[in-house]
Amino acid sequence: MILVVFLYLSSFLTITFTKAFITPVLIAKYCPSSSSSHFTINSTYHSNLKLLLSYLSSNPSTIYTSNGLSQVIFRNAVAGQAPDEVYGLFLCRRDLNSTTCQDCVTYAARYVTLVCPTGKLAVTWFDECHLQYSNQSLFSVLSQNPSVGVPNTENVTEPDKFDDSVLSLMNAAASKAADSPDKFAGAKKENFRVNETLYGLVQCTQGLSSRDCFTCPSSGQC
Ligand SMILES: *[C@@H]1O[C@H](CO)[C@@H](O)[C@H](O)[C@H]1NC(C)=O
Ligand SMILES: *[C@@H]1O[C@H](CO)[C@@H](O)[C@H](O)[C@H]1NC(C)=O
Ligand SMILES: *[C@@H]1O[C@H](CO)[C@@H](O)[C@H](O)[C@H]1NC(C)=O
Ligand SMILES: *[C@@H]1O[C@H](CO)[C@@H](O)[C@H](O)[C@H]1NC(C)=O
Ligand SMILES: *[C@@H]1O[C@H](CO)[C@@H](O)[C@H](O)[C@H]1NC(C)=O
Repeated sequence: MILVVFLYLSSFLTITFTKAFITPVLIAKYCPSSSSSHFTINSTYHSNLKLLLSYLSSNPSTIYTSNGLSQVIFRNAVAGQAPDEVYGLFLCRRDLNSTTCQDCVTYAARYVTLVCPTGKLAVTWFDECHLQYSNQSLFSVLSQNPSVGVPNTENVTEPDKFDDSVLSLMNAAASKAADSPDKFAGAKKENFRVNETLYGLVQCTQGLSSRDCFTCPSSGQC
């Protein structure tokens, strides 16, 4: 699963926390519509899911280090046994600190149980982190489904030129991310119009191959 953040919409939900808390900005969410993709309350799958989400949002015990920096940005986990296994992962933006990451994942885990209480799978995309779970393995797997499109709410002048610029920018960022050890890259295009700069960001989950990491953002499908 790949996180491409360049446009976002915000949304509002009341989840309260006792300590000072950085509330993440929701970009999009996915909850399956088909009833066959939902589980029964208090089933084994449900208790496995609760275990999984509490593990993912617990205080970091394992640390993913990259470039010598000790920072949790990614974790994947599995809970239970077939046929009730639940797989899950989170990915935080590489350029944010651990507190922001932790808060985002904790929030996302609560949020997902509210907006998708019985989904066998669900995905949440925030500006700061991404959290998803499924009854199928997610680790090292290129997943282009579910995907969501987030429309730009601003008008652009010369939309064809803008689209071309975005595509080539994201291609460059995807190529850099695919080859970087932490699968993260930012890119910018100065003066794509007079005095205007375009910024892009690509980040893939750890464990994804370079090729898969490049595929998603460059195809515009993820
Ligand atoms: C996951 O759930 C879907 C929908 O119920 C089902 O079709 C699929 O076979 C399940 N996959 C596994 C690996 O259990
Ligand atoms: C699920 O389990 C909880 C705790 O045991 C119980 O309070 C609740 O009524 C149960 N819900 C359903 C729908 O069975
Ligand atoms: C982490 O980043 C947030 C948001 O930028 C900031 O408010 C917070 O003070 C930072 N925390 C640490 C420990 O650096
Ligand atoms: C964008 O353009 C459309 C059509 O000209 C207009 O109706 C809309 O209000 C504009 N939106 C913004 C955010 O300017
Ligand atoms: C671009 O920026 C320069 C320096 O700030 C300014 O002099 C110039 O008028 C700007 N051009 C446009 C088209 O906004």
